[in-house]
Amino acid sequence: MKKGRILVTGGTGYIGSHTVVELQQAGYPVVIIDNLSNSNLEVLDGIERITGQRPPMVEADCTDMAALEQLFTDYPDIKGIINFAASKAVGESIEKPILYYRNNLNTLLNLLDAMPRHGVKGIVFSSSCTVYGEPDSNPVTEAAPIKKATSPYGNTKQISEEIITDVVNSGAPIKSVILRYFNPVGAHPSAEIGELPNGVPQNLIPYLTQTAIGIRKELSVFGNDYDTPDGSCIRDFINVVDLAKAHVIAVERMLEDKSDNKIEIFNLGTGIGLSVLELIDAFQRATGVNVPHKIVGRRAGDIEKVWANPAYANEVLGWKAQTSIDDTMRSAWAWQCKLRERGVM
Ligand code: NAD
Ligand code: WQD
Repeated sequence: MKKGRILVTGGTGYIGSHTVVELQQAGYPVVIIDNLSNSNLEVLDGIERITGQRPPMVEADCTDMAALEQLFTDYPDIKGIINFAASKAVGESIEKPILYYRNNLNTLLNLLDAMPRHGVKGIVFSSSCTVYGEPDSNPVTEAAPIKKATSPYGNTKQISEEIITDVVNSGAPIKSVILRYFNPVGAHPSAEIGELPNGVPQNLIPYLTQTAIGIRKELSVFGNDYDTPDGSCIRDFINVVDLAKAHVIAVERMLEDKSDNKIEIFNLGTGIGLSVLELIDAFQRATGVNVPHKIVGRRAGDIEKVWANPAYANEVLGWKAQTSIDDTMRSAWAWQCKLRERGVM
């Protein structure tokens, strides 16, 4: 049976591009919408080199309803949406809350509004473990309480989950799967696509790989006085290709009515908590490349420790994170080396 087309919003971004690859490899026709606010068109070349197919792409903003209407009219076979399009820098969201609320919420509202008019059955939404704040205990299940958001970015994820729930419960003819990612890291093993941070990276892995290659002098480890075995924070680092694969399963489950629930929520993580210092060790071990680093003070707003209990996704989706942390670190390093080779950075 021919598979319905999947609209991938933010499809030239980090997680979106890896998901487009997995969708195409699973036989799904796709179409990307992206305004290139945090990505570029060369990503399409990378996807094409991996899959042999260039995904169609509409360069437009999801907050532009007329552009979305046009897209749905031009691609009447769209059956599902994966909504990656959002602004995602936590620090920037504190300085520019209106930008974050407008971009992230209007994008979602427009998509939910347009779906029934165009016969689009379901939407997969990129949420985050940030909704759990500092959890009362680890590993975290989907039933853990939602804590007050500490940034406008985090708040957009909480509000988005509520908006989706309200719209689905209103009887709108749509379904949704909400995926709460832990810390996505690494790159496609081909090193054709990966994460492209804008300016000085705020996240650990891009800062680490840029330090390893000499763009940054030293990686600052934010705090070694936390209540953890080595004093540094603990996260659940999930390989981006493993994460992308979960989206294909979620889309299929939604479109093929494999569940009676109109809305489902899954944690996507490995179930393994790794400290910042352990991650640096893993990178050095896996690549043989030294990462100059020093301990500095805590970063305001950081969560001490959070890692997933992914049992629900493992059982219900039949999905499990499979890539070892060493392979993930090697993929991040290969991607950084590819960027250097191409003269990007
Ligand atoms: P990204 O910035 O690499 O990708 C987002 C893409 O969306 C970019 O290509 C950007 O140009 C595009 N975009 C943004 N606003 C748009 C708009 N209004 N219209 C069209 N395109 C728009 O980010 P990512 O890391 O791939 O994250 C994807 C999603 O996953 C986001 O919703 C993010 O909040 C969520 N998420 C990311 C992480 C993470 O650590 N990377 C963790 C949890 C959740
Ligand atoms: C990881 C750990 C830092 C940089 C953020 C968002 C979250 C989610 C993922 C989307 C922390 C430490 C970092 C550095 C360091 N995104 N660190 N030196 O903070 O877990 O999550 O991205 O939803 O919402 O908050 O990720 O990669 O920034 O940090 O020591 O230069 O690495 O303190 O403990 P975080 P991160």
